[in-house]
Amino acid sequence: MKTAATLEFRHVRKEYDGAPAPAITDLSFAVGAGEICVLVGPSGSGKTTAMRLANRMLEPTSGDILLDGRSVMARKPADLRREIGYAIQQIGLFPHQTVAGNIGTVPRLLHWDRRRIEDRVFELLDLIGLPAEMARRYPAQLSGGQRQRVGVARALAADPPLLLMDEPFGAIDPINRERLQNEFLRLQARLRKTVVFVTHDIDEAIKMGDRIAILKEGGRLAQYAPPAELLMEPADRFVEDFVGADRALKRLALQRVRDIDLWKAATVRVGEPVEQARAKLAAADLDIMLLVDDAARPVGWLSETALQGERVRAELRSSAEPVVELDDILRDALADLLMAETQYGPVVDGSGAVAGVLSIEALSHALTTEPDDLPSPTELIPGEDAAG
Ligand SMILES: Nc1ncnc2c1ncn2[C@@H]1O[C@H](COP(=O)(O)OP(=O)(O)OP(=O)(O)O)[C@@H](O)[C@H]1O
Ligand SMILES: [Mg+2]
Repeated sequence: MKTAATLEFRHVRKEYDGAPAPAITDLSFAVGAGEICVLVGPSGSGKTTAMRLANRMLEPTSGDILLDGRSVMARKPADLRREIGYAIQQIGLFPHQTVAGNIGTVPRLLHWDRRRIEDRVFELLDLIGLPAEMARRYPAQLSGGQRQRVGVARALAADPPLLLMDEPFGAIDPINRERLQNEFLRLQARLRKTVVFVTHDIDEAIKMGDRIAILKEGGRLAQYAPPAELLMEPADRFVEDFVGADRALKRLALQRVRDIDLWKAATVRVGEPVEQARAKLAAADLDIMLLVDDAARPVGWLSETALQGERVRAELRSSAEPVVELDDILRDALADLLMAETQYGPVVDGSGAVAGVLSIEALSHALTTEPDDLPSPTELIPGEDAAG
């Protein structure tokens, strides 16, 4: 089985018996292998219905859903269960089963032998960062965040190429929610599953999604686009209101790169001991290193082979472009990142030396948090430096 599968909805319609209008009218969208697609939209817009159609907990009235190019309608539900992991917020874990019992649910359905299930449970506990002794506990003996982690482990148990997550972090307090989001993104960077993730929260959508599908009532797709595009070019008024783009874009035009929290990059030089470079990497916010010259100016992003000897070699996986400046206006910096189709770029100060890294994620964060003190627009006239 592949690690990740494509998923495609083709003109899917779902009418519930006796309902006055279809829950989903005519929904088409495609998710690439290894991508996180976030479904957002108001309550009743059909998000949960869409998920349940994908794993055949519900049958569509018409249209088709393809998993890796094959119609799910032609598949045995038991096979689908192995290929589609499902994690949900409330119903969650079986209260009378231990953590191990819960995580082993799908493998048991698939008749794995006991030993294999046990090995898999401990492997998954390790993966989600819970100690092995938690295997014997019951859900009631876990914190909300731990329960959520177990829910994700259970969904991953049979190593499915597609993961459906219906408001998985919805009931968690904001601090733990952020931690779980970050953990999941780190996990995803390793596992590269295809994920469909439902949330009410546009901030969460922007953070988690490679692409975001915004649904309106009746499962109508208002827009399907990467987060930055939703923010920059909302398709209609509904999307604009939903993402609050108007407000956010104004804010982008009012702030400079130096006004937001930049990521810390591991900057290394040719000839530097690899061990030292790796120590810098461990302290950085990014998992790749930036090669700089003697004046600390960015040269490019290092490839893994640059680190194979004892000393760092000048082997690049990509150039440093786009390089942005501390004094650039955020809107322009975002445009630079979008044009270069990259998630981040080095930031340099007046002398051209690296001062940090600007990422789409940091920009999204800036878009969705209220800055303490915005400069007035007049301070941003080109040629003048608002920061003094
Ligand atoms: N079993 C059902 N029978 C009849 N109608 C249903 C059923 N389940 C859902 N619906 C209706 O279908 C529509 C879509 O519901 P769905 O649960 O998919 O929305 P949702 O986007 O997940 O909402 P929420 O954000 O509140 O979870 C709603 O109008 C809902 O009332
Ligand atoms: Mg729902």
